Amino acid sequence: MKAKITLAKELKIGNIDRRIYGSFIEHLGRAVYGGIYEPSHPLADEDGFRTDVIELVKELNVPVVRYPGGNFVSGYNWEDGVGPVEKRPRRLDLAWGTTEPNTFGTNEFMKWCKKAGSDCMMAVNLGTRGPEEARNLVEYMNHKGGSAWSDLRRAHGYESPWNVKLWCLGNEMDGAWQMGAKTAVEYGRLAKETSKLMKWTDGSIETVLCGSSSRNSPTFGDWEAQSLEIAYDTVDYVSLHQYYENRSGDTASFLARTLEMEEFIYSVICICDYIKAKKRAKKTINLSFDEWNVWYHSDNAPYERWSLAPARLEDNYFFEDALLTGAMLITLLRHCDRIKIACLAQLVNVIAPIMTQNGGGTYKQTIFYPFEHLSNFGRGAALNPIIESPKYDCAEFTDVPFLESIATFDEENEELVIFAVNKSEDEPIELNLNLLDFEGYKPFEFISMDGFAKNAANNFEASPVKPHKNGVPKADSNEVNIHFEPFSWNVVRFRK
Ligand code: AHR
Repeated sequence: MKAKITLAKELKIGNIDRRIYGSFIEHLGRAVYGGIYEPSHPLADEDGFRTDVIELVKELNVPVVRYPGGNFVSGYNWEDGVGPVEKRPRRLDLAWGTTEPNTFGTNEFMKWCKKAGSDCMMAVNLGTRGPEEARNLVEYMNHKGGSAWSDLRRAHGYESPWNVKLWCLGNEMDGAWQMGAKTAVEYGRLAKETSKLMKWTDGSIETVLCGSSSRNSPTFGDWEAQSLEIAYDTVDYVSLHQYYENRSGDTASFLARTLEMEEFIYSVICICDYIKAKKRAKKTINLSFDEWNVWYHSDNAPYERWSLAPARLEDNYFFEDALLTGAMLITLLRHCDRIKIACLAQLVNVIAPIMTQNGGGTYKQTIFYPFEHLSNFGRGAALNPIIESPKYDCAEFTDVPFLESIATFDEENEELVIFAVNKSEDEPIELNLNLLDFEGYKPFEFISMDGFAKNAANNFEASPVKPHKNGVPKADSNEVNIHFEPFSWNVVRFRK
């Protein structure tokens, strides 16, 4: 089938905030223990961090990592995870039914972030705790010294403040599964006061209000409007969370989920701007899509209750999941004028692009690659391509374009990149690309993932699902014809 993309520099959506390529580490399953931290591993460094994992995180080039949860944070006492390790208590984590040894805590995570080249996006507990504990944590983390909490940090061996800039006001507080779940009004009041105290402690921080736990949440819409109406003046972002699944094996509908994701994003932007209008506010609230991924493969995997770091949520991703992951990233970039932060949930072992064996090796999941490509090459500004693509109907959607695509233009390095998914399971796309005002730009690299069964996956024994390089398409003045294989992920890079 034929498709056309027209691109021009003035079709700019916005500058890409690098934090849109963020991720997430929760005290859940083997994300921390056996994932990023395993002191007994032969490749562990002097801090117990797995250096093989750090190398893979660096390949993904993750600018910011959300921590320590997730559902976990809603029962977490941050004080349990600082100070001498031998004095730290073991606690029952009610979120995931496991025992938390607290041998890894906030300072260890900050050290790990430095080694991985990431910033921290810290969440505070607004489930079982409140403003007091949250502002104490800001003081512990960010105040230089001369106060009880900052001096405690120094006594713990960390002289300099960590200066964490980005803070989540709880997690999914609308969900019945959340410790200390709240109504929108209860949460709005709590978030407002907590954010106020945290910002009085350090005026340079930014805070994220919890939006709904997903678009499917029964209170979605009202939750955002009611809590924002109360907390608007003291917060900077509202969060979105969404996971997709393909339980029915309906791949066409699965890959079309980005249409739904787009509706979700539009709705949240509208709600933010509605409250802005009501308040005659100058400030605009932006979006933090701080949990997104495919999640369903590992459902019902057994584990031993109250054990330490059992395998939980260890989805083994299919090739089709990589295509949706790429399409979801494209969707995020299409809204980069309002989405400033996004976190692939999660990073290691738990619904993650990186998998590890305790005491053993690692492998890259299928979803590793689209993320790696976007995070490394999708820089500068996002451009909105004018796309003419054949469309399909499926069980759950109509008029789904087979071709999903975005372009990024990095003016500084004079690099233009097209990212594209061909959602057709059996037809290639013959793309005619018209680069209106990109005179002299020629393709120099063309990377694809294609030719795999939709349920092809990688594992510790073999990792067949990975990208390959194609021959570089020929450019004729400003026109380039590119062949996208059926059911494929594609990256085409251009330079002058
Ligand atoms: O990422 C796994 C879980 O999904 C998180 O703990 C929670 O916030 C969400 O429901």
